[in-house]
Amino acid sequence: MSDYEPFIAEQTEQSIAVYPGTFDPITMGHIDIIKRGLTLFDKVIIAIARNSAKVPLFNIDERLEMIRESFPDSGDRIAVDTVGGLLVDYAYTRGAKAIIRGLRAVSDFDYEFQLALMNRRIEREVETVFLMTGFRWIFISSSIIKDAARHGGDVSGLVPDHVCERLREKYFGGGQGGI
Ligand code: COA
Repeated sequence: MSDYEPFIAEQTEQSIAVYPGTFDPITMGHIDIIKRGLTLFDKVIIAIARNSAKVPLFNIDERLEMIRESFPDSGDRIAVDTVGGLLVDYAYTRGAKAIIRGLRAVSDFDYEFQLALMNRRIEREVETVFLMTGFRWIFISSSIIKDAARHGGDVSGLVPDHVCERLREKYFGGGQGGI
């Protein structure tokens, strides 16, 4: 079993939470939420899920790799996985008690409320837990970071260095310029 394969609660008796998202790419804001999640749960499964409204820049393998590279010393407390179908079904079969979502600003609330209520309607045994994003990350999103990077803006500090590098490769073919 690799370090990043998901765990199953029955085998461990530990509290597990799923942190879903598109992660296109993972940002320091996501990492902040994951670290906060680890103070509440024994294990966090970072789950790349499909948002049908989005066309990602990075493919699934690239996103998996970027997440894994962001947690080189996580031991067995973090797993990274992909979700094909319904998120709550995935969480339930993994024995997760909760789905973690980060709240940045009031603008997130409507969508997150809808998502949480629909998830609860489908599967009552999995709760949604909202964590406040660290103040420094309140105004960032993957899209705004991609937009800045695409135009050569400096996004260092907002994403891990290896993600900066991947953005540079995507937009500038690994050559000089930008970011
Ligand atoms: N700091 C900075 N940015 C953050 C953040 C944080 N703490 N938390 C979220 N964001 C950003 C993300 O980067 C993302 O930016 P983008 O829109 O520019 O890409 C945005 O906020 C929200 O994205 P994310 O948290 O990745 O969620 P999502 O809306 O892309 O994902 C799914 C939603 C995938 C979880 C949802 O569609 C899902 O559950 N899909 C599975 C299928 C399913 O079960 N559907 C039924 C749902 S009822």
